Amino acid sequence: MNHPNPPTIVAPSILAADLGRLDQEVQSVVQAGADWLHIDVMDGTFVPPITFGANMVSLMRQKTRLFLDVHLMIVEPERHFKAFKDAGADRLIIHQETCPHLHRSLSEIRSLGIKNGVALNPGTPVEVVYDVLDVCDLVLIMTVNPGWGGQPFIPNCLGKIRQLSSKIQASNMDVVIEVDGGITAETAPPCRSAGASAFVAGSYVFGASDRADAIRRLRP
Ligand code: DX5
Ligand code: ZN
Repeated sequence: MNHPNPPTIVAPSILAADLGRLDQEVQSVVQAGADWLHIDVMDGTFVPPITFGANMVSLMRQKTRLFLDVHLMIVEPERHFKAFKDAGADRLIIHQETCPHLHRSLSEIRSLGIKNGVALNPGTPVEVVYDVLDVCDLVLIMTVNPGWGGQPFIPNCLGKIRQLSSKIQASNMDVVIEVDGGITAETAPPCRSAGASAFVAGSYVFGASDRADAIRRLRP
C-alpha cells in the first residue's frame, strides 16, 4: 500500500562530484547524511554526453554500502541489466523513451533481484507509465532535460508529479516518485508537496560548502 507521507530520500548525483577525489567525495556525502547515491550513466546516443559504465558502479560499490540508484540514459538498456546488477547496482532506472517493451524490461530488472524504476523526460506525458505501475518500484520525473548537471528546474513538471501521485494513491500502489534535475532547497518543497519523496541533487549538494546542511535543507 502507498504510504501517504513517505520519508524523504536524498540521493546526491556523483556526476557533480570531483572525480579526481572520488573517495573523499563519496565519504563526504555519506557522512553528510545521503540516503542513496545516484549514478548517471549516459551513452552519447540517447543523450549527447558519455559518462560512466558498470565499472563506475563497481567502484562505488567498493567505496560504500549505500543504496546505489543507477540512472540509465542509454538506448537498448536491457543489453546491460546483468552487467550493472553484477557491478552492485541496487536499482536500475530505465527511460520510457528508450524502451518499446517497458513492461518486459521492468519485469526483467525485478527478476534479477534488484529494484527498478522508469524515468520520463519533461516532454513525455505521465500517462505512459499507468499500465506498468504494477511492475514498477519508482517513477523518476525528470525536472530538466537529461544530459547535464547544473540546469534550471522546469516548473511545468510539477503538474506531472501531482497527476502521478493521485494515480498512485487511487490505485493503492507502492511506487516511489523521484525527481531529478535542478533540485535545490527552493525547488524541493514544491516537488514534495506535489507528491515526490526521493530527491536527486548534483550541483546543489556537491557545490555546497556545507554538504550536511545542503542535504538537511532538502528535507521537510
Ligand atoms: C541529468 C542527470 C541528473 C543530474 C542532476 O541528466 O540525470 O542526475 O546529475 O544534476 P543537478 O542536480 O545539478 O541538476
Ligand atoms: Zn539522474
